[in-house]
Amino acid sequence: MYSCWVIYNGSLTSDKFKDQAVLIKEAAERAGVQAELKRNYEVTMDLTGNFDSPPSFVVFLDKDILLAKFLKNHGIPVFNDPVVIETCDNKANQYLELAKHSIAMPETIIAPKVYPSFTIADSGYYEKVLKKLGLPMIIKEGHGSFGMRVYLIETKEAFYAKTDELRGVDYVFQQFIVSSRGRDIRVNIVGGEIVAAMYRHSETDFRANITNGGVAEVIELTQAQKGLAIRAAEAVGAEFAGVDLLFGEDEEPLVCEVNAAAHIRNIYNVTGINVADAMIAYILRKIE
Ligand SMILES: Nc1ncnc2c1ncn2[C@@H]1O[C@H](COP(=O)(O)OP(=O)(O)O)[C@@H](O)[C@H]1O
Ligand SMILES: [Mg+2]
Repeated sequence: MYSCWVIYNGSLTSDKFKDQAVLIKEAAERAGVQAELKRNYEVTMDLTGNFDSPPSFVVFLDKDILLAKFLKNHGIPVFNDPVVIETCDNKANQYLELAKHSIAMPETIIAPKVYPSFTIADSGYYEKVLKKLGLPMIIKEGHGSFGMRVYLIETKEAFYAKTDELRGVDYVFQQFIVSSRGRDIRVNIVGGEIVAAMYRHSETDFRANITNGGVAEVIELTQAQKGLAIRAAEAVGAEFAGVDLLFGEDEEPLVCEVNAAAHIRNIYNVTGINVADAMIAYILRKIE
């Protein structure tokens, strides 16, 4: 009999992280796998120790990349692979991969590293960015979820204030896709196949995230949307992915981001499809 750990972050207090883990645990149990929920800190990363009874595999819902690597080093199959978690964890980093694979996305410029106690405000760099992307534009921090660190910058004052505030932080400048204001698509992919998709839209915010007030409904994807979402997941190597797509001019799809640990509760509620079952089935096919 197979066994698995479902790892989530134990420091986050919101119930939605545990809820996500429970969905996976229940799916594993339905498939006859003995499953255990674990907070990341419940596995001690003792580099001199050994595991008495390692699980057959780990479903890793956290961004504790060091822990994911630690488990992989012990020979345990980890899903997604730690390399993928690391690539996607930082949006700037994942855009590098997406661009390398010629994935259609908004025009994006990765901000240069600026140490927090210093500034390049007088260098002319920011003026070049303004000239290239124009206003309004999007500024997006490397690390952020639920739309919380994505900013719509509409004035020069706001632009300079944000670049000043983000010294020491990884972020990108990005073309604002006006035709996609307040709307996007979430596509859940497992092992290169689309399992579920939903259209999200918000009347109150430029961000379509449900956590930000967006509402969602089932959508029938076009061939172009399907193809791009699958290629985006493949570009970052993600076996499990939640790909966000934007609507470009003439509705042509653009990749907004790829989530390596996409939440599956909302898409379950909206579509009735439990992505967790597909994830577990995929893992069992792979490790058998
Ligand atoms: N370049 C963009 N143009 C238009 N809307 C965007 C753009 N980037 C992000 N958005 C909107 O903001 C939301 C959050 O951005 P996203 O990159 O998915 O970050 P998060 O990880 O916080 O979900 C998206 O779902 C989309 O609605
Ligand atoms: Mg998103």
